[in-house]
Amino acid sequence: MVEAIWTTTEKDGRTVVHLIDQRELPTREIEVPCRTHKEMAEAIRAMVVRGAPAIGISAAFGIALGAQEDSAPSEGLSFSTYMEQVALTIGQTRPTAVNLFWAIERMRPIWQKNASLPPRDRSRILFDEAQAIKDDDILRNKKIGAHGQSLLPQKATVLTHCNAGALATGGYGTALGVIRGAVEAGKTINVFADETRPYLQGARLTAYELAADGIPTTLITDSMAAMVMSQGRVDAVIVGADRIAANGDTANKVGTYGLSVLAREHGIPFYIAAPFSTIDPKTPNGKAIPIEERSAREITHAGERRMAPDGISVYNPAFDVTPARNITAIITERGVYRPEELSEYLSSHSGRESVPQA
Ligand code: MRU
Repeated sequence: MVEAIWTTTEKDGRTVVHLIDQRELPTREIEVPCRTHKEMAEAIRAMVVRGAPAIGISAAFGIALGAQEDSAPSEGLSFSTYMEQVALTIGQTRPTAVNLFWAIERMRPIWQKNASLPPRDRSRILFDEAQAIKDDDILRNKKIGAHGQSLLPQKATVLTHCNAGALATGGYGTALGVIRGAVEAGKTINVFADETRPYLQGARLTAYELAADGIPTTLITDSMAAMVMSQGRVDAVIVGADRIAANGDTANKVGTYGLSVLAREHGIPFYIAAPFSTIDPKTPNGKAIPIEERSAREITHAGERRMAPDGISVYNPAFDVTPARNITAIITERGVYRPEELSEYLSSHSGRESVPQA
């Protein structure tokens, strides 16, 4: 299965974090090596790596790279102050996916606890923690796949949006994890992949991943989703999430909200598949989720070619919010919850778990 993030060790013992350049897929498989936390921050910002869990894992590796660089002495800073600056640089890359901040919170006590160790030892411990976050994410996704597949009939067509697959996670995927889980359970699954304007994660990444797995996939433009639903050709919509608020409102790739309205109109179940690291109990509802706005060029251009008149004003929110009332269920590694059940679960567990475990 395609891998988004991996590490190698150089002759001098230093770790390099490699990313597959998702901007180039599916036509070119190029890797981007990251040796510094600033290189990793730039890779997240520029969407070399994207997808909420993959952003979180990359952030954790970015923290470890920062510790490995250890520019604290040359900058005249204590290790802890320097690491806070590293975390700030990484935390300022993309605002919506809460996994980014979740990963920083998980790494902070580790760098604080090991601050007095020799530099090599403390960076090794941080790399091990980042790798554990990645490995743990794959296990969570397999559980999401197992729980979610039970919701699908023996033969089903699933519509998905954006890319919530191996490329967007440590591996296996969330929404695509459910599809993979169903295929592994012997079900016959066909997929409609929305192309996902403007950045085309569906056309470039989901179609690439599913084709590699041999899962029958039909690519449609986003505006065709209504048509195929009205034709009775969709049994379920399954998408990932960038942040799930305490009341179940969910931010995901722009266009997801519209799909939820369409699914409701056509009586089609609408599922969010996401690990607990995407749930943000501190954000009460969708209105409080920060929505990233991206460059106008993503809309005015197709590749290098300008498609819109010079000077046209453009609005390009990268995400929208699906209200909890439109969500049939949220599929997590701990089981399947209706949004109101998830809210109850969160309020009954509040304060007991700063770092959710699978
Ligand atoms: O802008 P992106 O490509 O990072 O947006 C990704 C999505 O919206 C995904 O659906 C979401 O992060 C879930 S990935 C398992």
